[in-house]
Amino acid sequence: MAKVGFIGWRGMVGSVLMERMLGENDFGSFEASFFSTSQAGRKGPALGFDTGTLKDAHAVSILSKQDILVTCQGGDYTKEVYKKLRDTGWRGYWIDAASTLRMEDSSIIALDPVNRDVIGRALSSGIKDYIGGNCTVSLMLMGVGGLFNAGLVEWVTSMTYQAASGAGAKNMREMLSQMGVLEGSVHDLLADPASAILDIDKDVTAALRGSDIPVDNFQVPLAGSLIPWIDRAVEGGQSREEWKGYAETNKILGSKVPIPVDGLCVRIGTMRCHAQGLTIKLNKNVPVDEIESIIGDANPWVEVVPNTKEASIERLTPTAVSGTLGIPVGRIHKMNLGEEYLTCFTVGDQLLWGAAEPIRRILNIVLEHIG
Ligand code: HSE
Repeated sequence: MAKVGFIGWRGMVGSVLMERMLGENDFGSFEASFFSTSQAGRKGPALGFDTGTLKDAHAVSILSKQDILVTCQGGDYTKEVYKKLRDTGWRGYWIDAASTLRMEDSSIIALDPVNRDVIGRALSSGIKDYIGGNCTVSLMLMGVGGLFNAGLVEWVTSMTYQAASGAGAKNMREMLSQMGVLEGSVHDLLADPASAILDIDKDVTAALRGSDIPVDNFQVPLAGSLIPWIDRAVEGGQSREEWKGYAETNKILGSKVPIPVDGLCVRIGTMRCHAQGLTIKLNKNVPVDEIESIIGDANPWVEVVPNTKEASIERLTPTAVSGTLGIPVGRIHKMNLGEEYLTCFTVGDQLLWGAAEPIRRILNIVLEHIG
């Protein structure tokens, strides 16, 4: 039986991974060990089976006894441990949700509904590092990967609407606290139907700019506002989140000729669903119904939403998608710019297809590969 070690199973992405693995009955076909960076020796997680005692996540000698390591512990842990572990001669599989190793030549970005062929070739050629993609990129490709794989995409711009969860659990809490402060600032005025909306607005704006609104994590209010910058600056005026669009899309697809992908990444006040508005330059004029079939047939989770107001507001929102594996793609139509210019909108759960699910699936693919 293969030995699989889990690190970072307690955090937000790790918890979603455990939940999904339990939901799909993934445990049982391998020997699971649970590691901790701070609580080695304590009892393992309560997952409904004997999870043993927590092992030390810094003990390279213990880690190296595993055939596969799955980490959702974050980039600092990967930086600290990965090289030391490989330096011992360990040739096991490293499956990682963090971005640290994503762009290394020795890594594959795992998103099997889109790049199962790339993964298959990598496994056969002995590649051992499989890394989860950036959430926005993975969600875009889960939505419109069919068009890429059909060779129809000349370039894409992606304008994103990214959830608080992408910034972390503390940020989600902070956003909700901000919402509470805003409501509190006008609670009495709201209760009075005769109050003037401009008075309410004035007080909300004062609260947004005041010192009572918590901003320790986001630095500025997200609730009642938005933040048009995610991650640090890179060259050329982009943020790093925007840079990943091009770099990771082409790495996931294994593109021989890279396809230009660029846009602006914006944080908005949703909990865990990222959305994005895409402009796609097709390399030929394809009718919309054909485009819808290509998008909809690409994987079992993508769902084409009719371009009507009713369907869009019911099915193409974070409210509809949160906590599900569905990837709706809607608002699909040709733009006034010309017949080769397509626009659409897609939504996906950032913690599921954006993080935990590709990790869960690549673990199963690796397990199958090593038999
Ligand atoms: N970088 C993403 C975000 C989340 O900030 O929303 C992780 O892929």
